[in-house]
Amino acid sequence: MKRIGYEKSIDRFLSTLDFDPPPACRILDAGCGTGFLGLHFLQRWPRAELHATDLEPNFLRTTLANAGQRGLSTHRILTSVSDISAPKQATDLDGTRHTLVDSSYNLICLGAVVGYANDTEMSLRQLMQLLAPGGTLLNMEMNESPTGRFVSWRYQYQNIPLTQFAQVIRDEGGEVTSAALGLKYFPACLTRIAFVARKADC
Ligand SMILES: C[S@@+](CC[C@H](N)C(=O)[O-])C[C@H]1O[C@@H](n2cnc3c(N)ncnc32)[C@H](O)[C@@H]1O
Repeated sequence: MKRIGYEKSIDRFLSTLDFDPPPACRILDAGCGTGFLGLHFLQRWPRAELHATDLEPNFLRTTLANAGQRGLSTHRILTSVSDISAPKQATDLDGTRHTLVDSSYNLICLGAVVGYANDTEMSLRQLMQLLAPGGTLLNMEMNESPTGRFVSWRYQYQNIPLTQFAQVIRDEGGEVTSAALGLKYFPACLTRIAFVARKADC
């Protein structure tokens, strides 16, 4: 992925997104993979802290290694194994278990992961509950292009259509916008679309 410029093209797209979090904000990157979504924002906001979760412990180790390569202190990162079907339950690499606290994250990043949940709507609802008032949930979802659908089929991923995403977010008190990735974000534009949900302020 790195070699073909995929992560860099998403990184360039993320740079165009305008968020205004509190300086010491908390970020959750659920289903982090190599961590590039959460690490982008950790690099952008020097006082932010990242909680990176994934079903596979190896991806958590990769995320920590990638943080080091970006010159980011791993002290700013908590890593936990967590299933996106139950995103509030997490187990650290040393075996410590947590229940994540509602309304405690200012930004939640997701990328092609909610479609792995047993119940996508339940997963999204729980993720919205974890978001602080005024917070943002960014879902870099698989798009509906032939390439996006082929890649999803290949990896047995269930795409989340915008209509379904928006319905759940509205039920949970959020507002949704979406942005297609233009050709200048090649190759990410072949498979991804950005859904952005903002939770109302209290
Ligand atoms: C397509 S990769 C996406 C990685 C990254 N978020 C991105 O945007 O490119 C899917 C990630 O979801 C993780 N994953 C798969 N099933 C999962 C589950 N049930 N719960 C949590 N993570 C899961 C995989 O280990 C992998 O890191």
